[in-house]
Amino acid sequence: MHSRTPYIAANWKMHKTVAEAAEFVDALLPRIAATQSDVVICPPFTALAEVVERRRGTAVKVAAQNMHEADSGAFTGEVSGPMLVELDVEAVVLGHSERRQYFSETDEALARKVAAALAHELEPILCVGESEEARDAGETEGVLERQLQADLAAIDDLAVGGVVIAYEPIWAIGTGRTATPEQAQEACAFIRDVLRARGAAAEEVRILYGGSVKPANAAELLALPDVDGALVGGASLDPEEFAAIVDAT
Ligand code: PGA
Repeated sequence: MHSRTPYIAANWKMHKTVAEAAEFVDALLPRIAATQSDVVICPPFTALAEVVERRRGTAVKVAAQNMHEADSGAFTGEVSGPMLVELDVEAVVLGHSERRQYFSETDEALARKVAAALAHELEPILCVGESEEARDAGETEGVLERQLQADLAAIDDLAVGGVVIAYEPIWAIGTGRTATPEQAQEACAFIRDVLRARGAAAEEVRILYGGSVKPANAAELLALPDVDGALVGGASLDPEEFAAIVDAT
């Protein structure tokens, strides 16, 4: 048996103003007061400070949804690790498929971002996952292995233990088409195999499933041996629904 603490993250994407974020946190905290799991909220940049302040004194962690690898510089529109650390942000989502797809995020940039996040003691939540075409072509494992090798290329094996991996099949994100438990388990076990083969302490790494996680399917997914948590998009916008997913751990 492993001793990985379950990890449930709310990826709000481009949703919620500061006022809406405050309302959410106030509604969520009493609902999850008894949980033993790690609960992480990933608001847009503008709501980070508010969520950090509202959750002070609780075990809830706060993550950004992206960061630049440089500490500062001429990168209009970007936010750096030191800027997040100053706000007491503890983690950062990196390589979400929406960033890869709509903002041309490359594996080369991600390798630098993962290393920069760790250097600033921000926990990276690295997203990987295949497209529908890749799955249909039987290339799921090839895609996952390529992404993991490339995105973790700039850190040493020991540091991999400090990275959270989110397996997010692109065809399951925001579509209501959740991966079957067999598909989720198979992919997460494969990810752990890749990390182990690389020489990392794979048994320590939290591997999350993401893609249409809802209260109705969370318990079944979270019970899988290699699924240690969930990265939740749509269902994380409502405090009651998100609390129900936390309760499923
Ligand atoms: P979803 O999004 O839960 O709305 O499918 C998951 C994600 O993109 O992290």
